[in-house]
Parts: sequence; structure tokens; C-alpha cells
Amino acid sequence: MHAVVWHEIGDIRLEEVPEPQIKQPTDAIVRLTSSAICGTDLHFIRGTVSNMVEGTILGHEGVGVVEKVGSNVRNFKEGDRVVIPSTIACGYCSYCRAGYYAQCDNANPNGKDAGTAYYGGPKDSGPFNGLQCEKALIPFASVGMVKVPDEVNDSKAIMLSDIFPTGYFGADMARIKPGHTVAIFGCGPVGQFAIASAKLMDAGRIFAIDAIDSRLEMAKNQGAEVIDFAEEDPVQTLRELTGEIGPDCIIDAVGVDASTSEKESRSKEGEKFKKEVEEIAPKANPRNSNWHPGNAPSQALEWAIKAIAKAGTLSIIGVYPPTMQYFPIGQAMNKNLRINGGNCNHRKYIPILLEKAKSGEIDPEKILTNEVNLVSAIDAYKSFDKREEGWIKVMLTPS
Ligand SMILES: NC(=O)c1ccc[n+]([C@@H]2O[C@H](COP(=O)([O-])OP(=O)(O)OC[C@H]3O[C@@H](n4cnc5c(N)ncnc54)[C@H](O)[C@@H]3O)[C@@H](O)[C@H]2O)c1
Ligand SMILES: [Zn+2]
Ligand SMILES: [Zn+2]
Repeated sequence: MHAVVWHEIGDIRLEEVPEPQIKQPTDAIVRLTSSAICGTDLHFIRGTVSNMVEGTILGHEGVGVVEKVGSNVRNFKEGDRVVIPSTIACGYCSYCRAGYYAQCDNANPNGKDAGTAYYGGPKDSGPFNGLQCEKALIPFASVGMVKVPDEVNDSKAIMLSDIFPTGYFGADMARIKPGHTVAIFGCGPVGQFAIASAKLMDAGRIFAIDAIDSRLEMAKNQGAEVIDFAEEDPVQTLRELTGEIGPDCIIDAVGVDASTSEKESRSKEGEKFKKEVEEIAPKANPRNSNWHPGNAPSQALEWAIKAIAKAGTLSIIGVYPPTMQYFPIGQAMNKNLRINGGNCNHRKYIPILLEKAKSGEIDPEKILTNEVNLVSAIDAYKSFDKREEGWIKVMLTPS
């Protein structure tokens, strides 16, 4: 079958690989009808999240049809249409039972303190082969798949595998109450769903910060008040537009590949960011215009801490590697902030969001901008990596 395979930093390929086989009675095999490319995949190719194992199939978003189930998978049968939560979880440990699927004690073969288990990630996340392929092995399948109602087509359902639950998780952790003023750093697909989720939670005002026109445009179409950080200082503008108070809640939907403005990168701050990049991504391997790490890893966090209202809540869903040490803790402590963060507990939110998609309360398909055949995945990756105008969320369909 065809699959997108990670070889080294700066080198991914479309290859022919063997089809997966059931190994445990709790496994299932799903024939994928859709997958997608996530901003997280870019960290692995840019080298800002390390420890990938050569030969790992990339991707952690998938919708498909159950082809086979192990003898201990009692709630699914061949032919069921399912969405696959990105994080892998056992469903029976105390963490899973409390909804902390991303902190499952049993799913990660490296042990219970190794971190979140997920598809297509580095060694410390499993490693598990990912979902940018034609068929996938689903461990702990009785909780690792969710049935998709007929009313929800693939273009909607694929958004529920990772990015809609993550945006919703971000808004949930930001403790948005009706009327609150919210700011979202990053208008990539995850940021777009954070905006949509803040709306579902009745935020009073929503600000959205990025520097890419088509992404700011999409945010504006959702009703957000947009700020282009290449044109203006986002901290100053956020404070000015909120009576010098700042937003009650801020969501970081950027992560380690953050970039900064021309002006900032030429200042003393820029020197500090350069050191951060050297430390975080020593093996970066850019090729022509692709796979460049962001030039300011801690920029979004710094702006967020400066802009947020006193006693506000910061919610971090942008991904940072465990090795990252930069965070303005002094300013955060002195503002009495509440800080939440983490990998999404996808399985907790997917059923809630499927219901909203089914009823039409929200149309997740609105964030999807490109549909590409799996065989053209590498070119699609390049366009998404370069953040070409209009390339916001890419769905991959095996032929
Ligand atoms: N926590 C989770 O479970 C989870 C799940 C999925 C994705 N993620 C992470 O969420 C982040 C966003 O994912 P995505 O798919 O939207 O990625 P993306 O790379 O498409 O989007 C990131 C956006 O941030 C913008 N940006 C860069 N620097 C910025 C800055 N200083 N201020 C404001 N905006 C800035 C970029 O222009 C881009 O539009 C990534 O770090 C990804 O790894 C986390
Ligand atoms: Zn993702
Ligand atoms: Zn568990």
C-alpha cells in the first residue's frame, strides 16, 4: 500500500509498504478513506520535535471503514464507518476513565511516564505507524475508534480526528465563560477550530493573531477581530482594543515553530530567539524553501503573557518538545495567571463534537481548503509547510 514515510529531518517520501496485520485481540484494521496533514507533522520534518524513527508512517488523522477486528473488540464490526482519535489510549486505566486519554498509563510501550501515545510520532510516543496511508492498525480499538453517523461525510469527520477536538480542548482549558474576551495566537487549522469553539462557548469578543492573509481572512469570516503581527505589535494592539486590560483568556495555537516580525527579529529579542532555535533544532535540514524551523520558538508564549489580563487564563495547545526550557515564568507568576496545557484528550471530545456536526450546529468542513490524492502527498506537504496562501487544511484521500 502507499504511505507517507519519515526518513530523516527534511526527508519524507511516498512509498510502497506492507499492509498492517492484527497482532493483539484488542486491535482492528481500518481501510482509510481520508487522512490529513497536521502542523504537528511539520515539527518532525523541520526538526523542532526530534527522536523520529526512520521508516515511521506519518499522520495521526483518519476516517475509514473497519476491515477486521480482534476477538476482544466487541463493539465494532466489519464495514462500520469510523473516525480515529489521534491519541492512543487503553480506555480502562484511571487516567482514561477520568477523561485524560492523552495521559493513558498503558498505551505507550515506553512506559506510563513516557508521555502521550499517538500515531505517526517520535520514539517516545510509541512509535506507532501513522494514518497517511491506505490501511492502519488501531490498538485498543474498542475505544480507539468512534462510529460516524451517515449525516457526517468524510470532509467533516476528518476534522474530528484531531484538530476540532484540539481547538475545543484549548477553549475548554482557557475556561471561556459567556462574555469573556478571548485571543487566539495562530490561525492555522487548530487556531481556526479554537475560534469556532470559543464561539460555541459564547465568548464575547474573539481576537485572532497571525501574519498570513488567507488565514486571517478565514478567522475574520468566522467573526474574529484580526491582528497581523507582521504589520503591528500584537501586544500593543490587543491592549489598545480592550481598554488597556487585555484578554481574559488566551490560547496558544502556534507551538515551537513560532515566528516573529522583521522588526523583532532584528532586535535583542531576535538574538535570544536565534539561540533558542540552535538549541531546539540543532539538526534542522531545510531544503530550498521547505522545512525551515520557525525563527522564534517562545514568541507566541511571550506575547501571550504580556498581553493577557491580570488573573487571566493561558491555554497552551501549540506543541513544544519536552526539551524546551523557555517560558516567561516570572511575568506569569506576577500576574496571578492560570496556565493549562497539554496534548488533546481526543476521545473525550469526539462524541460531543460529532453530535454538533450531525445536528448542523457547526460545519467543520468550512476549515478544509484542499483535497489531495495520497499519491501527491509530498507536494501537498511542501505547500502546507510553506504556508502558501489558501493552503490551510489539507485532506489526503487514498485512491
Ligand atoms: N495539543 C494537541 O493535542 C495538538 C493537536 C494538534 C495540533 N497541535 C499543535 O497546534 C499547533 C498548530 O497546528 P496547526 O495545524 O494549526 O499548524 P500550522 O503550522 O498550520 O499553524 C500555525 C500558525 O501559527 C502562525 N504563527 C507563527 N508564529 C506566530 C506568532 N508568533 N504569533 C501568532 N501566530 C503565529 C503561523 O503563521 C501559522 O498560521 C502546532 O504546534 C501543532 O503541533 C497540538
Ligand atoms: Zn495533529
Ligand atoms: Zn488508559
